[in-house]
Amino acid sequence: MQVNELKTPYFMIDEAKLIENLEKAKTLKALSGVKLVLALKCFSTWGVFDIIKPYLDGTTSSGPFEVRLGYETFGGETHAYSVGYSEEDVKEVADICDKMIFNSQSQLKAHRHLVEGKAQLGLRLNPGVSCAGQDLADPARKFSRLGVQADHIDPTVFDTLNGAMFHMNCENKDVDALIALLDRISAQFGEHLNKLEWVSLGGGIFFTWPGYELERLAHALKAFGDRHGVQLYLEPGEAIITKTTDLVVSVVDVVENGMKTAIVDSATEAHRLDTLIYDEPASIREANDDGEHEYVIGSCSCLAGDQFCVAKFDAPLEIGQRLHVMDSAGYTMVKLNWFNGLRMPSVYCQRTSGQIEKLNEFDYQDFKRSLSQWSVS
Ligand SMILES: Cc1ncc(COP(=O)(O)O)c(C=O)c1O
Repeated sequence: MQVNELKTPYFMIDEAKLIENLEKAKTLKALSGVKLVLALKCFSTWGVFDIIKPYLDGTTSSGPFEVRLGYETFGGETHAYSVGYSEEDVKEVADICDKMIFNSQSQLKAHRHLVEGKAQLGLRLNPGVSCAGQDLADPARKFSRLGVQADHIDPTVFDTLNGAMFHMNCENKDVDALIALLDRISAQFGEHLNKLEWVSLGGGIFFTWPGYELERLAHALKAFGDRHGVQLYLEPGEAIITKTTDLVVSVVDVVENGMKTAIVDSATEAHRLDTLIYDEPASIREANDDGEHEYVIGSCSCLAGDQFCVAKFDAPLEIGQRLHVMDSAGYTMVKLNWFNGLRMPSVYCQRTSGQIEKLNEFDYQDFKRSLSQWSVS
């Protein structure tokens, strides 16, 4: 398979770049003793799990189907967390997970009898502080429903729990900020954590970012684990998959209404949703900030404001030209949808040998089935 023969739009996962991130994860584990479970909410493309498995300890999840996917396709430790479990979910999940983490004391109370003897029990705690950029994604936002806050805790609950989970970081590249959070957690919850076997600090620690002070992070994590006598876990998603994957699109038209807009055969609303939700423009590999030719890279959806970014190029863009929308794996492939009946991007992996392997492709029948399987009689 040759790259230029592939029909756009498609995702290309680069194995070499993935391994670069995974090697950093391996170093962190070795230096700190933490265990790492992949956050499937961020990245669930199980076709590449054979590359990831040797480096990580298992998976964590945010809904019942993710638990099953982790169990079936990744193995190792399967952590199950959900903001809200139904009784049916708990019954299904308890048989296949190793650790079941409830979001509230009421859920724990209602369902613990279904889990005891099958999986370890955990509770999500909310330290009330965070390192998260936007309010929408801030677990410590006002009236947050995510986890139990310190002043709402029934201390006796820790006598019969195995572990606790926190999640309060989002793309946090600052070790000092993390250390401040850990100190606050120790001060607020330390006496409770001392009774537990394990603590997960959730995701959002961006330890694969270039220049990240990995050794300082490892030292701080080890100190925290030792202080409370617990096995520490992290639940990385974005840190594992960052900068590994391009969404490759083609220019299908160029229009001009005061500014040149190149329309491509993909849309943020369908294929790169976080661009839209968080208003974070994408980056295009072919662009050059000093280029003379500026374009809006516009989506082919019907949503008026749907655009990937504004970018400059050295030469005018041409119909049929391919553009690489960089860093398009995390919270992207898991959120693909069929809005407008657009063609769904295929998924490929470029192996370190240079060989390209197909992981997925979609057709009209997939679109149709996603809408109804049966019609009214
Ligand atoms: C509970 C929990 N764990 C882990 C993660 C993964 O975070 P990230 O992909 O930023 O590492 C998230 C993200 O929202 C989360 O809510």
